[in-house]
Amino acid sequence: MPVPRPTRAEIDLAALRHNFQEVLGAVGRGCDVLAVVKADAYGHGVGHVAPALAAAGARLFGVALVEEGVALRRLGIEQPILVLGGVFPGQEAEILTHRLTPVLYDLNGARRLNSAARNAGQAIDYHLKVDTGMGRLGFRVETLGEVLPVLKQLKSLHMVGLMSHLAVADEPDRPLTGLQYQAFAGVLEQVAGYGFTPHYRHIANSAAIYSRELSGCNLVRPGISLYGGLTGGPFAHGFTQRPVMCLVSQIAQLKDVPLGAGISYGHRFVTTRHSRVAAIPVGYADGYNRLLSNRGEVLIDGRRAPVAGTVCMDWILIDVTDHPDVQVGDRVTLLGRDGDAVITAEEWAEKIGSITYEVFCQVSKRVPRIVVNA
Ligand SMILES: Cc1ncc(COP(=O)(O)O)c(C=O)c1O
Repeated sequence: MPVPRPTRAEIDLAALRHNFQEVLGAVGRGCDVLAVVKADAYGHGVGHVAPALAAAGARLFGVALVEEGVALRRLGIEQPILVLGGVFPGQEAEILTHRLTPVLYDLNGARRLNSAARNAGQAIDYHLKVDTGMGRLGFRVETLGEVLPVLKQLKSLHMVGLMSHLAVADEPDRPLTGLQYQAFAGVLEQVAGYGFTPHYRHIANSAAIYSRELSGCNLVRPGISLYGGLTGGPFAHGFTQRPVMCLVSQIAQLKDVPLGAGISYGHRFVTTRHSRVAAIPVGYADGYNRLLSNRGEVLIDGRRAPVAGTVCMDWILIDVTDHPDVQVGDRVTLLGRDGDAVITAEEWAEKIGSITYEVFCQVSKRVPRIVVNA
């Protein structure tokens, strides 16, 4: 086996377990947790994350795709797996084979699933998705009067959950979230009126869990808060989240350059003094976003040092002139904590005009995920 280069994402399972416990503390008794582990656990590596969350007490799991659900079963996850993105034509057999729970948001999909289940002599549990204001997936509330009688006829389908999704939960001052909760309460009654008895009722993502009363619901669907990516102001409330991912590398080369030297593609950084520049083997192909050119910072021995010039596909250059003691082989932290210093996903997201979710998901497949604190 060739020895890999030193760039890696360290995944701190103790931090993951801590964040999960914080969610449990926030929702209190009587509410189950569905851990959202879609997109390879938001880039953290589902192979380690899902078993750790199962052991910590996650009662259900959420994925976007049928394929992701199948992968979870192959990992040995036995809990119910909710396929949040629903089922595309032809994927019905996988739902049955792997005992996945689809989210239903259109009648044609429902009919296809019903036929597949009937032909197999089985029943399929599903969660009904209602659009109370997100404007994405789900039956619109005003169509339920037509939809529910049709679903009632599909005898091989069994509604075990009723759900909706919030559009602005991360902006607690906006009234829409309250209106969506109100609409959801109305839908609960309407569904009961047609004789459905969905066991699970859920609408809250991470931001809602940390900013609202969750009345009427008995399940929450945290994703980003499990990974420590929702630490901003209005969500503090005495709870702490710890970053789970630490992206690190090493200094591969150190070079002294004179005043006026151009650094990296385009020479967008030109030294204004005699300088020392460190080359780090990480680039945009690893998820180190090119918008961090001349803007990003890294930590070396607990101290900040700036990215000099353009981020390349496989390399970044760091101006370490102010840290003359650094050596080839020193650990470089791109994201995460080093001593008292930390580079958060929020800081990174702000610099690239994005969100923490994308920062994590961008860390590419060629970066090995290494478990720490198993
Ligand atoms: C339907 C659904 N529920 C829950 C979540 C988890 O949201 P968050 O990561 O903000 O907690 C997502 C993520 O996008 C989602 O699409």
